[in-house]
Amino acid sequence: MHTRVLTGITTTGTPHLGNYVGAIRPAIAASRRPEVDAFFFMADYHALIKSDDAARIERSRLEIAATWLAAGLDPNKVTFYRQSDIPEIPELTWFLTCVTAKGLLNRAHAYKAAVDKNAETGEDADAGITAGLYMYPVLMAADILAFNAQQVPVGRDQIQHIEMARDIAQRFNHLYRQEFFVLPEALIEEQVATLPGLDGRKMSKSYDNTIPLFAGGAKQLRETIMRIVTDSRMPGEPKDPESSSLFTIFRAFASEAESAAFGRALEEGIGWGEAKQVLFERIEADVAPMRERYENLIARPAAIEEILREGARKARAIAGPKIAQLRDAIGLRAMSSVTMHAGNGRLASKSVKSPRFASFRDTDGSFRFRLFSSEGEELLLSKSFKDPKAAGAVQKQLKTIGGSAVTLHSLPLSLVLELDGEPVANTPDYVDAPARDEALAYLRQALDLLAAQQGE
Ligand code: TRP
Repeated sequence: MHTRVLTGITTTGTPHLGNYVGAIRPAIAASRRPEVDAFFFMADYHALIKSDDAARIERSRLEIAATWLAAGLDPNKVTFYRQSDIPEIPELTWFLTCVTAKGLLNRAHAYKAAVDKNAETGEDADAGITAGLYMYPVLMAADILAFNAQQVPVGRDQIQHIEMARDIAQRFNHLYRQEFFVLPEALIEEQVATLPGLDGRKMSKSYDNTIPLFAGGAKQLRETIMRIVTDSRMPGEPKDPESSSLFTIFRAFASEAESAAFGRALEEGIGWGEAKQVLFERIEADVAPMRERYENLIARPAAIEEILREGARKARAIAGPKIAQLRDAIGLRAMSSVTMHAGNGRLASKSVKSPRFASFRDTDGSFRFRLFSSEGEELLLSKSFKDPKAAGAVQKQLKTIGGSAVTLHSLPLSLVLELDGEPVANTPDYVDAPARDEALAYLRQALDLLAAQQGE
């Protein structure tokens, strides 16, 4: 059974060693596990909340994409995309906004911290706070819920956001009386090291104490490592590994045996300068091959663009049907699927009790249709037909032959429907294989029901 794991990376700033050890490396390792269906994306809409510097946003997106790819992310295994390439995300954000209690957002840590800061300085409570900052948790909920992610690896500072996503999902499911959204769980990696920065505090852009991962090359890496603050013990004086940042950083890269040897060297009085050189060489051994890949990637931004577009295509194949299902559920339906009740002028659903087809014209001008269950859940999305008559003919055939006569071909998490050996439609992705098998039976029933009605 697959677990869908999803995480976003805010595209401000340039990746540093702390990001690599704390987020990039463990996320990529997790994505390689066979049972994991990983979705990693660049949260560039979130980045806009933090920065209005267009050049910086642009640069950061490129650097971050190249960094993750260089660090071993396999775009064939992971769905890797930009948030801003998925129009379903802002659309879902609005649907969720409409069911989110304002009071919930009032309690968000980041918003509250900004309000408290204003109070301290005697400012108006909301001075300098954008609605974007206020809405941050809803956008993040949409990121997660659009894909029914089950696990969301995040830092501790993000736990509240995941809890809010659960709250919002639950509220939506409750209001519209169906389990549209899986309730996501935060995944906090307990073993992952947080690296100390140059001054010994947690390595963080906000403390300006970071060691760059690739920027500036080996030279910059070495120079920055040489600036790590140490105590004033002289060469020859024993040093305590456990209280040394150098040792903590070393351990995040080295094996047990290497770390033990470095610890002994410190205890035996290696000079700080020499110890820093040892640390640099150990990090460089891991970083150098990645840096080479990074530089190759950065030099070919068009190739990165292509990878991200392909990722967006894969992501939208899941988010698109989900949004279609939601639009239907909340009443944003094609006019042709409702009729006016004579007399009272009220709109009423025509076919409340049976599954139904809905045809539509795609943005590229082709013709497609969907099959919805009686509950309004999307069961199928047809392939694109150039000719509306061909789309109509397939629909008619499905209505006549019933479920037992079609071939349903199982993919890992979805189904392809074939007519005469030709794939004509596919289902949305299901959360897992049992859900898919359940859907398979359900889909046959729906088609049988339609066929029975035709026969009447
Ligand atoms: N807010 C997250 C952070 O700052 C980034 C993010 C945006 C995210 N959307 C997400 C993380 C969805 C996980 C899931 O780290």
